[in-house]
Amino acid sequence: MTRQILVTSALPYANGPIHLGHLVEYLQTDFFVRFQRLRGHRVAYVCADDTHGTAIMIRAQKEGRTQEALIEAMGAEHQRDFAAFGVSFDHYGSTHSKANQALANGIWQRLRERGLVVERQVDRLYDPQAGTFLADRFVKGECPRCGVADQYGDSCEKCGATYAATELKHPRSVHSGAVPELRPSQQLFVRLEPLQEFLREWTQRSGALQPEVANYLANYFLDKPLQDWDVSRPAPYFGFPIPDAPGQYWYVWFDAPIGYLGSTQDWCAKTGQSLASWWHAPQCEIVHFLGKDITYFHTLFWPALLHVGGYQLPKRVQIHGFLRVNGEKMSKSRGTFVTAATYLAHCDPSWLRYYYASKLSNKIDDLDFQVAEFVGKVNSDLVGRVVNLASRSARFVEAVGLAAAYPDDGGRFARAAAAGEAIAQAFEACDSREAMRLVMLLADAANEYVDQKQPWTLKKDPARSAELQEVCTVVLNLFRQIVVYLAPVVPELVAKVDALFGVPIRSWADAASPLLGRPIGKFEHMMGRVEEAKVQAMFVPVAAEPEPVVASTPAGARPAGGGGTAVVVDGPEALAKEPLAGQITLDDFQKVDLRVARVVAAETVPEAKKLLRLTLSLGGDQTRNVFAGIKSAYEPSQLVGRLVVMVANLAPRQMKFGLSEGMVIAAGTDGEVFLLSPDAGAKAGQRLH
Ligand code: MSP
Ligand code: ZN
Repeated sequence: MTRQILVTSALPYANGPIHLGHLVEYLQTDFFVRFQRLRGHRVAYVCADDTHGTAIMIRAQKEGRTQEALIEAMGAEHQRDFAAFGVSFDHYGSTHSKANQALANGIWQRLRERGLVVERQVDRLYDPQAGTFLADRFVKGECPRCGVADQYGDSCEKCGATYAATELKHPRSVHSGAVPELRPSQQLFVRLEPLQEFLREWTQRSGALQPEVANYLANYFLDKPLQDWDVSRPAPYFGFPIPDAPGQYWYVWFDAPIGYLGSTQDWCAKTGQSLASWWHAPQCEIVHFLGKDITYFHTLFWPALLHVGGYQLPKRVQIHGFLRVNGEKMSKSRGTFVTAATYLAHCDPSWLRYYYASKLSNKIDDLDFQVAEFVGKVNSDLVGRVVNLASRSARFVEAVGLAAAYPDDGGRFARAAAAGEAIAQAFEACDSREAMRLVMLLADAANEYVDQKQPWTLKKDPARSAELQEVCTVVLNLFRQIVVYLAPVVPELVAKVDALFGVPIRSWADAASPLLGRPIGKFEHMMGRVEEAKVQAMFVPVAAEPEPVVASTPAGARPAGGGGTAVVVDGPEALAKEPLAGQITLDDFQKVDLRVARVVAAETVPEAKKLLRLTLSLGGDQTRNVFAGIKSAYEPSQLVGRLVVMVANLAPRQMKFGLSEGMVIAAGTDGEVFLLSPDAGAKAGQRLH
């Protein structure tokens, strides 16, 4: 029977790059999706960027671009990374879409009708400098319980205490460093307690949750009254306005899961289907994949919204653990926060896909990336035990092709065909670790056969060429059978195997019957071995600042290419240890002391054709005398009072007209000059980094 399955992965925040931790999830989902497609089921795999919230708002401000431009760029970057790792979405949308807004409005309406929305005044932390209320993650201070410094506003990483942001000692805004104030805010809440019975039933008896998850919810949440869920945020906020509450926006976690519906809706519109045929159809199985940190949202809030909104509930919520590296949390300073882009600069995506598949199970335990294990699994299992089957046999039959009848192989092919069901069950259960274990046993049996028959010895004896063809027919068919079972995990290998045999692998059933009496293509290299140095090269410690800093051309300047200089500084994690020729290290760059400076006086230098004399203030009473070649473009009087960017540690130069104590930064060619200025709010003397 053909099943209809809608699969989602959690929607990654638009705010940051995709990293190896995220990929645990998107690859685990992709194994499941590709497996179901191979089984002939009708599958839709939808995802989207999660775009709303304070973090995006503040970052867009900092970078001087609109929120829309920022989320657009991040969405494109995320999709590029996912494509490089072979994640096969049917649709990748955005929570900032018309469809999503309409669906959120609809669910809100139903919540109102059911009397599940209540209003209350609460005191919230407010950043007076950034002019915004602060989400818990944007306040840091000392833990109210153990006193350790530098903890977020929701929980302590040291002692595990959870608390309200207002309880932090010596709180500071992460955005501006300002001391937050308490301001009253009128908030809207969704009441969950009236849905307690429904939630208990669904979490405990529907079979949608892994047993550990169901137990955790029963112990921690469902044995006491469920707290109201605070779903509104006062302006300014980047999100959807709440239609019947002027000045209020939905908290990002309200419209984020609705994004599963929104993205499906956009895909349906594109492909001429109806949303109802997926989210209202009882035969459709909805399966969500996510990490354990967002369990609560997906097992209490989200089912509550779906239930009230009249949608189908998920058949399965599949939760995985967190990625650690060498036993520790991923960390920028230890260099273990590896982005997708950094990985791709050094390693093959198929290696990571296989490595994760060999480690992931249906359990929610964390998993550990270990370099030696990664190298071992790829080189000895994937290349050594599987790919080598082809490289040890394909060339010998390039000229004659596969035998017309399947030779006696001691029952190997039949046994491996029979193993297909157990392997399929493991994939179905998201226990890819078990699936990989079973597949490697088949590979062992095939290698044992190769070692017994020694095709390279047969090759030396022209009288045994028929036997050689038979042996290679067996080995190649055992190899292809294994590749069918690995197809959900290593699609790039499948493409090469398809080319070798000239018959594409389309379905799981392709493992049940051998290919015979056909030509064999030329054997092409299928997969390289990992060198440990390449894996080590991904782990580059970085000092601070997580996000990429983009220094763009100022308004009015021409885009780069016309001779102007536009500088794009990539995220620090992208910098390799050893710079290539023409590159500099972060340390080299940091030697340049770039400062914001204010022009306090400007005058022409009569003796010089191109120069203006500028007096620049670096704050306080520090001033510098600088000669700048900008006379052709600027009237001295225009310049007084404006901010510019200067190199403050350039060795002074004696010129005919006086001492030049620095340099101002400008874009342009000989004919055109554009001074660079910081965005509003910068102060003279501030250092650029
Ligand atoms: N935007 C929310 C999800 C909204 S879903 C309606 C979010 N985004 S996230 O970018 O932080 O994480 C996306 C997914 O990646 C989550 O399921 C999260 O658990 C997972 N992971 C993020 N870091 C991870 C690891 N280090 N290890 C494993 N999974 C990780 O949460
Ligand atoms: Zn603590």
